Amino acid sequence: MRALRSLPLSILFVLANINHARAIDIDVDDKDSIIHAAWVFAHGLMTYYNGNQTGNTPGMFVNPYYWWEAGAAWGSLIDYWFYTGDETYNEQVKSSLLFQVGSDNDYMPSNVSTSEGNDDQAFWGFTVMNAAERNFTNPDPDQPQWLALAEAVFNDMASRWDMSTCNGGLLWQIFQFNGGYDYKNTISNAGLFMLAARLARYTDNSTYVEWAERTWNWTEGVGFLDTQYYYFYDGAHVESNCTDIEKYQWTYNAGIFMAGSAYLYNYTEAPLWAQRTQSILDSIDIFFDSATGIMYERACENSHTCDTDEKAFKSVLAWCMGLTAVLAPFTYGTIYEHLVKTVSGIEQSCVGGLDNVTCGTTWVNVGWDNTYGLGQQMSAMEVVLNLLVQDFPAPYTASTGGSSTGIVPSNGSDEEAKVSTTGDRAGAGILTSIALLMMLGASWWIAI
Ligand SMILES: *[C@@H]1O[C@H](CO)[C@@H](O)[C@H](O)[C@H]1NC(C)=O
Ligand SMILES: *[C@@H]1O[C@H](CO)[C@@H](O)[C@H](O)[C@H]1NC(C)=O
Ligand SMILES: *[C@@H]1O[C@H](CO)[C@@H](O)[C@H](O)[C@H]1NC(C)=O
Ligand SMILES: *[C@@H]1O[C@H](CO)[C@@H](O)[C@H](O)[C@H]1NC(C)=O
Ligand SMILES: *[C@@H]1O[C@H](CO)[C@@H](O)[C@H](O)[C@H]1NC(C)=O
Ligand SMILES: *[C@@H]1O[C@H](CO)[C@@H](O)[C@H](O)[C@H]1NC(C)=O
Ligand SMILES: *[C@@H]1O[C@H](CO)[C@@H](O)[C@H](O)[C@H]1NC(C)=O
Ligand SMILES: *[C@@H]1O[C@H](CO)[C@@H](O)[C@H](O)[C@H]1NC(C)=O
Ligand SMILES: *[C@@H]1O[C@H](CO)[C@@H](O)[C@H](O)[C@H]1NC(C)=O
Repeated sequence: MRALRSLPLSILFVLANINHARAIDIDVDDKDSIIHAAWVFAHGLMTYYNGNQTGNTPGMFVNPYYWWEAGAAWGSLIDYWFYTGDETYNEQVKSSLLFQVGSDNDYMPSNVSTSEGNDDQAFWGFTVMNAAERNFTNPDPDQPQWLALAEAVFNDMASRWDMSTCNGGLLWQIFQFNGGYDYKNTISNAGLFMLAARLARYTDNSTYVEWAERTWNWTEGVGFLDTQYYYFYDGAHVESNCTDIEKYQWTYNAGIFMAGSAYLYNYTEAPLWAQRTQSILDSIDIFFDSATGIMYERACENSHTCDTDEKAFKSVLAWCMGLTAVLAPFTYGTIYEHLVKTVSGIEQSCVGGLDNVTCGTTWVNVGWDNTYGLGQQMSAMEVVLNLLVQDFPAPYTASTGGSSTGIVPSNGSDEEAKVSTTGDRAGAGILTSIALLMMLGASWWIAI
């Protein structure tokens, strides 16, 4: 009962009704219905987590999920809490994020770091940045703070900028003994670009804008971004001075560059970043099936060759679409339409498994495709949550409500950060309930 009491009313509503639901019917015009679907998908997502059990490692999901995907999953659960108000997983999110920081508080934990790439580190950086931007519960003062962790990840990555080949850019790998140390890839550079863009806006520090520009300029200059169509390719090898470009196109590269551009547009108001945001938005049409408009991973989905990592990429695109829609409001209509069409595919797909609500990999016209996993659950959850962006505040900054502190203390937040955490939690709970009451209007009276 204790657990139930902490749940928002809308969740009580879905608990009462879940037994009657056939599968997942998602009414995109009904917030309760969206929250219900997210609740179901989050529950499925957490069935892949056992890091909280004795003998297991907090923060890590079961095999075969790599460390980066765990980082992404915790980020998606911050979104889940932010949009639904359901705090069920918050303690696990927080303890996981803090367990994995590593001895230098920069997400290079010794168990993982020998195989860690720049892209892997970036995903944990995104998630702690998300914690800062959503004003997620701050760690105790003697623990590393969300913003400081994100800055540390940025500092590591920026320090690895490599002029020895290809005129700059980040290598995929951090350590020479790892396969891939000879490859410069778009996702690692996308990671640096987006972290820079978000830190610029959050901290109001233009040094980060320069880094974002440098990364964009390089990605374009080396040809990983093809500005004729705004397509982002996978990467290339340093032996060829990055001329042997692998032309795979992944949803997450486009998504991260699009959202990063939207952050920079929102922060600088420069028409150039608006144009880039719009151009990438136009280009992502290729990731929506031409007949149904449903999102798909074109490089591997039709051929059924998506690996474990690739099955999670659509979650990143959906998350980035939501951010873009809020930060560059002129994109909202197009993005909302893409998400709504994709929901119809999710309804067809997420009818599998023993619970009859397990999501498959492919959402285009097939029903459940007999696959399941962390990436599938996370992707479906991000699509439905991001239908709600317009009803919630944009990512906070240090001056608009974010209370996380950085390595360089940011202005305007120091006093708030000192308020006792118990008081904060109770306060936040009440605020959440009030917000949900306002959001739901009178409908919960009917439900209860
Ligand atoms: C671990 O987390 C899962 C998913 O939230 C939960 O069902 C389970 O009860 C937790 N186990 C422990 C030992 O805390
Ligand atoms: C590292 O791995 C060991 C052995 O599996 C585990 O006990 C420990 O908690 C892990 N530490 C981190 C930070 O993951
Ligand atoms: C490598 O490519 C960069 C552009 O990406 C170019 O500026 C540089 O001159 C090239 N170096 C060599 C040795 O070809
Ligand atoms: C801005 O960010 C850069 C890079 O982290 C840092 O070196 C610099 O001190 C920051 N400037 C201010 C005014 O906070
Ligand atoms: C990026 O390229 C633009 C256009 O060429 C140039 O004006 C700008 O100075 C470059 N920025 C950085 C940081 O390299
Ligand atoms: C930045 O985002 C906020 C929140 O959506 C929005 O109100 C504002 O208009 C955006 N700024 C620009 C320049 O579009
Ligand atoms: C799933 O659907 C099957 C077939 O309709 C049904 O027999 C089973 O009870 C359902 N399982 C759950 C958990 O609802
Ligand atoms: C952010 O969190 C701080 C500390 O918990 C709190 O004082 C502040 O009101 C929160 N801001 C918003 C916008 O919720
Ligand atoms: C904080 O704001 C004050 C007054 O606006 C300013 O003098 C100071 O330089 C700022 N500090 C930082 C770290 O930005």
